[in-house]
Amino acid sequence: MANILCIGAGYVGGPTMAVIAKHCPQHRMVVVDIDADRIAAWQSNHLPIYEPGLDEIVFESRNKNLFFSTEVDRHIAEADIIFVSVNTPTKTFGQGAGKAADLQYWEKTARQILKNSSSSKIVIEKSTLPVRTAEAMERILNFNDKGLYFDVVSNPEFLAEGTAIRDMQNPDRVLIGGRETASGQTAVQTIVDIYAQWVPEERIITTNLWSSELSKLAANAFLAQRISSINALANLCERTEADVTEVAHAIGTDSRIGSKFLQASVGFGGSCFKKDILNLVYLCEHYGLTEVAGYWEQVVKMNQYQKDNFVSKMVTAMFNSVAGKRIAIFGAAFKANTSDIRESPALDVCRALLEERAEVVIVDPHALDNARISLSDVAERVTFEPDPYVAVQDAHAIAILTEWPQFAELDYQAIHKTMIRPAFIFDGRNILDHRKLYQIGFNVYAIGKPPRTHFTS
Ligand code: NAD
Ligand code: UGA
Repeated sequence: MANILCIGAGYVGGPTMAVIAKHCPQHRMVVVDIDADRIAAWQSNHLPIYEPGLDEIVFESRNKNLFFSTEVDRHIAEADIIFVSVNTPTKTFGQGAGKAADLQYWEKTARQILKNSSSSKIVIEKSTLPVRTAEAMERILNFNDKGLYFDVVSNPEFLAEGTAIRDMQNPDRVLIGGRETASGQTAVQTIVDIYAQWVPEERIITTNLWSSELSKLAANAFLAQRISSINALANLCERTEADVTEVAHAIGTDSRIGSKFLQASVGFGGSCFKKDILNLVYLCEHYGLTEVAGYWEQVVKMNQYQKDNFVSKMVTAMFNSVAGKRIAIFGAAFKANTSDIRESPALDVCRALLEERAEVVIVDPHALDNARISLSDVAERVTFEPDPYVAVQDAHAIAILTEWPQFAELDYQAIHKTMIRPAFIFDGRNILDHRKLYQIGFNVYAIGKPPRTHFTS
């Protein structure tokens, strides 16, 4: 039996430890956080995040071999293995502001581990970190006068929100990087043994520390790059009457390219893609690789253009003004099946429409509470409405900004009747039946497709 601790009970810490607890009943898992409200929510029947399958898996192990606590120091002292999954946001101040990772939470955690330890431990980087962070961590942890030795292992997380439990239960791969010393390899094997309880061994990849750290940034950069690439082409489709869905299908059937992550959209969101690419850009700049940095930075610039351009298209289509017009925003979450609104393109579009003095009504099945908090500075100008049929009443336009499948199942015939004419739909996720909407009477603007309008010129 090992005492396994996870520091950071967020979108990664909570779900990953719940899955390990399920598959490793012989181990005792504790997840700690400094945020007492978050821990209270993990201990309650209303978990702090919405994630399909999460409730079942947490309730199965909670208070058996899975515990949530705010007593960080005590649990560090008791732990044999410590996963660290604290937040690593983009730095907002000083050197590297706007690009580099802000490692203050991570470093504080390392110092806290050292302060509260009276035995040697394995410390695992679960958070996404710049390549070579482990070296700094080793220095902080191992320059001690307690006679303690800490093995630092990199085990980045690849789960995507909305499918986190499925991704953890059946991962494409688990990546574990460690030092090539005897002690480092023993530490790596200890972590391999945990995952081997449910992951086939051929899917557990072991590498050196730096390859593991860099592979996490690289994976996110490649995924985001695909989205920016298809979005870039979507803009050309709109000018040439090509259809981006047909283009994505045509290129995606080439097995060398593959069909995933070619869904053109209003832009990618989420807490990690932008932050991790900017982190990669900063690292490249740090090493003097100016062209390499510029190459990756363009992925983020393209994404910003996509969001800005979506709003411009809305304003232009609606006779160059949305001031005073009610606009129903379908979706606040950054993607479907999550309550997470971090870096959500939906909220960026909302803010831009508010700048244009539109009247914004937001609908979302699971993210309204988080959206309300995020937009609290403009709360008096936004309505949060759980019922889409209420939101669209007397609206000039609907903008689909999250790909929740339930938005495709609404009765758009009935919706059209309650809207101001001419009624507009801007499908930022290409999830609706555009031909049918046009036949109902809507003017339809999608991503990477010629608009379908009833205007003659
Ligand atoms: P999060 O903000 O949801 O959770 C981080 C938690 O750490 C917070 O609850 C915070 O209170 C806690 N924390 C910070 N400092 C602490 C300390 N000293 N002691 C105890 N708790 C502390 O973040 P997240 O989305 O779970 O992401 C965590 C890391 O995992 C990031 O590096 C992120 O890039 C990476 N990651 C995230 C995802 C994802 O889907 N969200 C996927 C893969 C990797
Ligand atoms: C992403 C990666 O997919 C995970 O592997 C990684 O672990 C995680 O980041 C992380 O490091 O945080 P996540 O951001 O949760 O996961 O969700 P994705 O499914 O990658 O979607 C990200 C954004 O891209 C969403 O806004 C989504 O709507 C958008 N997207 C995705 C598109 O616009 N088009 C696509 O084809 C796919």
